[in-house]
Amino acid sequence: MIPTQYARIFNGIVGNLPKATQLAKYFSSTSSTLFKDVNARNSLSSTPTKSFFSTDPLKFTKEIVTGKLNAYVADLKFADKPIINITSPLKDGREVLVRRLGPKDVDQIVGFHANAKWGIFDSMANDQNRVDAIKSYMFNAANTDCDVLVAIVDGAIVGLAEYEDRPGEMEERIDENMLSELKLSASDVCVSKTMVLEKMQGIGVGAALKKAQLISARDGGFEAIVSRTASQSVINIVKKLGGTVTSDVCPWTCIRIE
Ligand SMILES: CC(C)(COP(=O)(O)OP(=O)(O)OC[C@H]1O[C@@H](n2cnc3c(N)ncnc32)[C@H](O)[C@@H]1OP(=O)(O)O)[C@@H](O)C(=O)NCCC(=O)NCCS
Repeated sequence: MIPTQYARIFNGIVGNLPKATQLAKYFSSTSSTLFKDVNARNSLSSTPTKSFFSTDPLKFTKEIVTGKLNAYVADLKFADKPIINITSPLKDGREVLVRRLGPKDVDQIVGFHANAKWGIFDSMANDQNRVDAIKSYMFNAANTDCDVLVAIVDGAIVGLAEYEDRPGEMEERIDENMLSELKLSASDVCVSKTMVLEKMQGIGVGAALKKAQLISARDGGFEAIVSRTASQSVINIVKKLGGTVTSDVCPWTCIRIE
């Protein structure tokens, strides 16, 4: 248990970091490729921090977060991208449907995000962090040159795969040696991250998302998907799909699109 005075100080510091969500992603080392100025896309200003030492994140955030997101999504124009609707069997006998995140998914994605763990800093997310992160998912699902696919099992979102272009805006450059060895330039590739709820990992959801993401990225005109990750699961998926993995401690992966 963290003493209240420390919790308040910590809460205040992190709550006032303008890019707390992005920092959390950076330190988690799972998706440091995906820096972008979320704030530039957001029309809502910051709200006071809520407690993030919560054992039940939904208890504090659901109403506030959902309300703000519904307002944001109502104004968002969804581009006419090719439909993705792919069902495949999972190792436990169930089926997973992978499709694009849509405007009607606000409730579901809020629930998913509250339970999603990119890294150790997720537990610090305050309401505004959550709103910003989910706005970014909605924005990328709605727009071209980026996409967000979700995995649905038994009617619930259990995983998410996102990609973006804009390598020029990334704080960490894509490994140039990897690109040149594969005869790719940064503008040929999109940058991906993938997340599956802990309780649903290891049964094929991540692989299903990655396969569908390759189709979406091909439709988007990309030649390859890259990601930076320390996750052995991602590395395994990438290798099985014929991709390459650099030899760094936190390697870059690349899957060429056929
Ligand atoms: C990475 C992630 C999305 C994978 O999703 P998933 O649904 O568990 O993936 P799958 O079940 O489709 O496949 C995982 C594969 O990796 C294998 N795997 C798991 N842990 C492994 C390890 N430590 N070493 C080697 N292989 C491993 C699994 O056996 C499986 O391979 P198989 O189908 O050949 O048996 C999920 O683990 C996750 O969300 N992790 C946290 C967030 C993260 O790190 N994301 C990556 C940032 S890009």
